[in-house]
Amino acid sequence: KTLAPCTLMIFGANGNLSRLKLIPALFRLEQANVLPEKMVILSAGLEERSRDEWVGEVEGIIKAKYPKGYDKATFEKFKTRHQYHATPIGDAESYNRLKVLLDEDANYPTDVVFYMAVRPSEFPVIIDALGNVGLLKQTAGTRRVVIEKPFGYDLLSAQSLQKSLYKHLNEPQIFRIDHYVGKGTVQNVMVFRFANMLLEPLWNRHYIDHVQITHSENLGVGGRADYYEGSGALRDMIQSHLMQLLALVAMEPPVSLAAEHLRDEKVKVLKTIRPISQSAVHAHAFRGQYASGTIDGKPVPGYLEETGVASDSTTETYAAMKVFIDNWRWSGVPFYLRTGKRMAENASAIMIRFKNPPQDLLRATRHEPPRPNWIMLGIQPDDCLKMEIQVKIPGLELQTRTISLDATYRKEGEDEYDAYEGLLLDAMEGDHSLFLRFDEVEWSWRVVDPILKVWAMERDFINTYSAGSWGPRGTYRLFDREDQFWRHSL
Ligand code: BG6
Repeated sequence: KTLAPCTLMIFGANGNLSRLKLIPALFRLEQANVLPEKMVILSAGLEERSRDEWVGEVEGIIKAKYPKGYDKATFEKFKTRHQYHATPIGDAESYNRLKVLLDEDANYPTDVVFYMAVRPSEFPVIIDALGNVGLLKQTAGTRRVVIEKPFGYDLLSAQSLQKSLYKHLNEPQIFRIDHYVGKGTVQNVMVFRFANMLLEPLWNRHYIDHVQITHSENLGVGGRADYYEGSGALRDMIQSHLMQLLALVAMEPPVSLAAEHLRDEKVKVLKTIRPISQSAVHAHAFRGQYASGTIDGKPVPGYLEETGVASDSTTETYAAMKVFIDNWRWSGVPFYLRTGKRMAENASAIMIRFKNPPQDLLRATRHEPPRPNWIMLGIQPDDCLKMEIQVKIPGLELQTRTISLDATYRKEGEDEYDAYEGLLLDAMEGDHSLFLRFDEVEWSWRVVDPILKVWAMERDFINTYSAGSWGPRGTYRLFDREDQFWRHSL
C-alpha cells in the first residue's frame, strides 16, 4: 500500500498505551518500510518537553520493547518524524498554536489523524478543544479521530459521548478502535468460517452445544488502578473485546468484507442477544476479585493491596456471563464469555463444544460419559485451530480415546503483526472495516448494562479467587448441565 502523506498526532503520547503499543507499532511499520515517506508523528502530552528530550524518550521506549529488534539505522529515520507539542489541560492557547502548526506549517502534511490515547473522560474535552479552533474542519485536508475504548461507561454515557463527537465530526471521520478486531488471529475467525466448506454447515444450534470465549491474563492491574477502579473486568474486556469476538463467531456471512457490510452483520447479532432482566442477573453473570496467590512460582499481592486500589474496593477483576442469541441459527445455544486478571494462564481462545451423537453406541465399552467434539480457535499466545475427535484405541477391545487434530497454521518465520500496526495504517488510509460503528458499541452496552446496574447496587460483597487460579469456584453455576464445564486449555 502507498499511503498519502499524513500527520499522526497522539494525545496521551506519554501514557501507557502509547508507550506500550502505539510507538512500538509505528517503529515496526518503519522497519517494514510501509509508513508514508512524508509523515510526521506529533506527540502531545501535558508537560513541556523539547523535541530532543522527546526523541530520547522514544528511543528508550523502542529499546525497552525490542531489546533484540532495535536497529539504529531504522531509528535514525524514525526519529526524524517525531515532534512534540505540549497541551496542558485547559490551555486554550496551546490549541491555537496547534492550529497554526497544522494548517500553516508546510512541514506538517494537512491530512491529520488525531489519536486519543487518553483517559475516556478526556475524549470529549480534547475533541471540543480541537473543534473550537477549527481543526476538525476538512477544508485543508482530511481530519480523522481515533477513539480508544472504552467508548462510554455505560449505555447512557456512550450515547452522550456520541452526541458530543457529532458536534464537531461526522461519522466517516470517527474511528472507534477495538484492538481485538485488529488481531490477525481474530480475523482468522472469518476465514475459518467462510473460506472453508467444512465448518459452516455445522455452525448452528443443530450441532453446537455451547460456545465459550475466554480471555485470561497472568498480569494484575499493574499501574492502571486509576482507570481500572472505575471500570472492572466487565467493562474493560467483555463489553468491548469479547462481545466483538462473539459477534464474529455468531454473525451471518456478510455480503462482502466492506466495512458497512461487516458492521451490519455484527450489529444484527448483537441486537438479537436476549436482554438479561435485572432479576436474572445472578443466573447469567458472575464476578470475582483476585486475592493474593502465586504466579509462575512467585507470590503476588491481592487486588486490594495494589497501589491506587481502595482498601474496600469491590471492583471485579474477573467476570463471566452467559448470553443467548435468539435467532434461527443460535436459539437455545448458550454463549459463555469469561475474563480475568491474575489467572492461571495467559490465554485467549474461542472454544466450541459440539452436541453428543444422538445414539451412544459405545456406552457399554466405557465407564465414563461420552466425550463430545470440540473446535478450538486459539487467539493468543498460541494462534491455532484444533479439533477434538474420538478414535478407537489400538488393541482387541473396542475402546475410544480423544485425539486432537492440530491445524496450527503459522509457518516458521511468519510473524503476525501486532493489532495496532494494522489498525494505525487503516486509520491513516481511512478504512473503517476493523473499527466499530456506534450501533455496535451501543448494542454491546445494552447487553451488559443490566449487569452493571445490579452489581453497582450490590457493592457490599464480592467473591474472591487466589491469584494464579482459574477464578472463583462459584462461576460454574452459570452452566445448566453437569457435563458442561469451563475449558481451560487448548
Ligand atoms: C485492554 C484492556 O483493552 O486489553 C486490558 O484494557 C487488557 O486490561 C488488554 O489487559 C488485553 O489486550 P491484549 O492484546 O494484551 O490481549
